[in-house]
This record gives sequence, structure tokens and C-alpha cells, in this order.
Amino acid sequence: QITAITLVSKTDAPVINKNIYGHFAEHLGRSIYGGFFVGDTSKIPNTNGVRNDIVKALKELKIPNLRWPGGCFADTYHWKDGIGPKENRPTIVNQWWGGVTEDNSFGTHDFLNMCELLGAEPYLSGNVGSGTVQELSEWVQYANYKGKSPMSDLRKKNGRAEPWKVNFWGIGNEAWGCGGNMTADYYANEYRKYATFMPNDIVRIASGANSDNYNWTETLMKNIPANMLGGLALHHYSVIDWNKKGDGVDFTEDQYFATMKEALKMEELVTKHSAIMDKYDPNKKIDLVVDEWGGWYDVEKGTNPGFLYQQNTMRDAVLAGSTLNIFNNHADRVRMANLAQCVNVLQAVILTDKAKMITTPTYHVMKMYNVHQGATLLPVNFNSPRYTYKGEMLPAVSVSASKDQNRVVHISLVNIDSKNKNKIEIDVKGLGVKNFTGTILTSAKLQDYNSFEVPNKIVPTVFKNFENKSGKLEITVPPFSVVVLEGK
Ligand code: AHR
Repeated sequence: QITAITLVSKTDAPVINKNIYGHFAEHLGRSIYGGFFVGDTSKIPNTNGVRNDIVKALKELKIPNLRWPGGCFADTYHWKDGIGPKENRPTIVNQWWGGVTEDNSFGTHDFLNMCELLGAEPYLSGNVGSGTVQELSEWVQYANYKGKSPMSDLRKKNGRAEPWKVNFWGIGNEAWGCGGNMTADYYANEYRKYATFMPNDIVRIASGANSDNYNWTETLMKNIPANMLGGLALHHYSVIDWNKKGDGVDFTEDQYFATMKEALKMEELVTKHSAIMDKYDPNKKIDLVVDEWGGWYDVEKGTNPGFLYQQNTMRDAVLAGSTLNIFNNHADRVRMANLAQCVNVLQAVILTDKAKMITTPTYHVMKMYNVHQGATLLPVNFNSPRYTYKGEMLPAVSVSASKDQNRVVHISLVNIDSKNKNKIEIDVKGLGVKNFTGTILTSAKLQDYNSFEVPNKIVPTVFKNFENKSGKLEITVPPFSVVVLEGK
């Protein structure tokens, strides 16, 4: 059976915001310390303490933005602890992530300079839970104010004359939970207060709902004036069970199916949260910012232990490809998303083991998909074939497509079915492109992963399993695979 899709350019189609391909780095486990930050006295080649190999890999990914310092950590973080001479910085307890010592050696300058090195836009999460309005307002001044002020003088004294001009600012994180256990009404008021003392020329992002807490979105949209709200966040992890047996590589098909069911729920979440936003913001000025997403599995006994360290398998590649297709297809409202997290934590794109560094299957998906950044969406409408397991069904194939400024067409397809290939026919006659090439990411087993011993077990290869029949592409997508086609 062949599923047919027709792609046509639409003049009112949205541009896929490059920030959908953003990342997240928190003071958690080996994300920062022992991850990308090793300090400038390390033997591992680095620039101001940041590993050169990681900078290179993330630049190749075209990482558009990076969120920091949390996560839950953000609402315990006092930014002034992380500026000035390192020997004077206080050592604190990282209360959320294992009660470990945090010496604040990676702070505001270190992060913002690293973003410059990466060519990525910084996204700073402010402390609402245990901070003050004054503290956050001063952080904005410290980072952004050019003229003379106590904060810009302090920045200059600490070695940075020019401001960094940080555009994206989160006002708290998970305010319903680790960010302060607030009610939606209470947080909406807090948000208004904090936003009042931050300038209007930055994007202020409200701490958003956990998965399907639609009441949270409704309350915030109703109670925060639109001109104070640049973005509203949403967090959704594909957490299925806490498999204590391993590091996430010994999962069963039951667990895989459950993971994919949770991951594909993103479609419903984005649709429903967007519909609520539409009621109050019909012109879609406010961004939906999915600033934490990804798979969250067993963390107890990893092969390379660390807090929230988990192995990243072919399952994660499929999860990432399907989720990014959802974001692309909702580009009219989803304008930023941040995979959790960048290095060594949860669904990381990079793993490190002392001096060694490897890229994960998810890294390769992000790299294959970065062709969509800034391209115009080609809307896709079709009924997917089904992935059936123990009487339950999920859509097996997801597709998203775009046309970039050079009129090159990119089509990304994911087949999540663990056993069956699927045939898709895509009519591209209306797009003015003739010659197609393809890339595929797949592996022998869903449980396969890139290890420090075999770092290139799962890498993209040339994909030829398609035929162009007079403008109709007949594509056979193998089980658990991610394919990207390019048409010129
Ligand atoms: O990414 C790990 C944690 O998950 C973050 O700190 C928090 O925001 C979320 O609950």
C-alpha cells in the first residue's frame, strides 16, 4: 500500500524559525563541568575553558540558540555569584541536582562568550523562585546596557566593554513545580511584575505548562497583557517508566512503543496549546517556546554514570526526527524549541568521557534537519500508515518539508515502525525541482548507539531507495529510520 502526499508552495506559509533547532545546557550532572567546560588549565584543547571539539561539533550543527543556566537550577541561581575573579566566587550547593558543590566558575561571561564562539543566540533563564525583581532587571542591564550605569560599569570592570545584547529572557522556569510551586494565577501576577522591570525590546518568555496543563496556558494568556509576553513556554518529556535495569539501551518493544506514543503526543499538545493562544492572540504574535523536550529514561546505572546521563540510541533519533517534523509543521506558532539537553544529560547530542567526545544519533538528526532552518514550510497533509503493536496504533510515518531561499526543497521523513517499511509517494510537480538526492539514518537494531569504542556505528549514509516518476517520488522508508531528501 502506498500513501500519497502532494507538496505545493503556499504564499502564506510560515518560515520555519531556525530557533526551533535550539539546545539547552543546565548546571546538572556533567552538562557543564566535565562536559563542555573543562577550565582553561585543562590539557583538553579549549578556548577560555570551553572544549574546542565541542564548539566545532555544535557549529557544524548550526546550533541557533542555547538556553542556560536551567531548568530547575535557574530558580536557585544568583547571577552575581558567577561574575568577577573566579577565586572570589562563592561555592554553593546545587540543591536540585544531587546537592553537589557548585563553584560558579562557569558564569555569565563564560556562557555569553561561549555563545559568541558558537555563533548561537543566548537564552537566559532568570530566577523568579528565589530571586528578586531587582536581581533580574540588573542582569538584563549587565548583559545589554551600553551607556553608563552601575551594572554596565561592573561589566566593564569584569573585562567586557561592549554589551552582548541578549534577546531571549525566561522569567522563571517550571513555576508550577521546581520554580516555586506557584498557582497559574499567582505566577501570572509575578510574571507581570518581573516583566515590568525588564525592557520591551527583548523577548520575555513566560514559564509555561507541563505537557497537557491547558489551564496554565489559558490563565497566563488571559492575565498577561500581550505586549508583555514575547513567548510562552511548554515542557514535554517522553518519560515512560524508570527502567532501573540499565542505561536505556536494554528497552523492550513495549517501552519503545510507549516512548513513541508519548513523543507523538507533542502533536496534540502543540495543537491544543496553540488553539488556546489563538483565542487571545489571533495574529499569532506570541511564540510557543518548547524549551524542554526529549526522551527521559533510566538514569540509575549508566555505562558512563553521571546525573541524568543516559545512552542515546536509534530510538532517540526516531523520536527527534518525529518531534522536529511536528515543530516544523507548526512553524506558524512554534518559533523556538530546546532539546534537553546538549551535553551528557538526557537526550544529549554530545557525550564526553574525559578527553573523548562522541556525537549521538540525535546529533545526526539535528544536523540532517538543519536545512529547514529559515526555510519556508511546504504544508503536508496526509493519512499516515499505522504502526500497530498489541492492538494499539500510532501514525508510523511523519513528514515535513520546506523550500529554502535558493529554492532548494527539503523533505524529512521518519518511519517509527519497528518492523515494517512504508511506501510513500510525494507529488513534487508543482515545486520546480527535478533532481533529488537523499540521506538516511538507521541501524540494525533500535537499541544500537554510538559508543566511545565505536563512535560511528550510527551515521548518515546515502539513501537511494526512491524513484522519481515524472515528478512523483516513490519512497520506501525502512523501519525505524530518518530520511532527508533534497531536491534542486
Ligand atoms: O532538564 C531537566 C529538568 O527537567 C529541568 O531542570 C526542569 O526544568 C525539568 O523538569
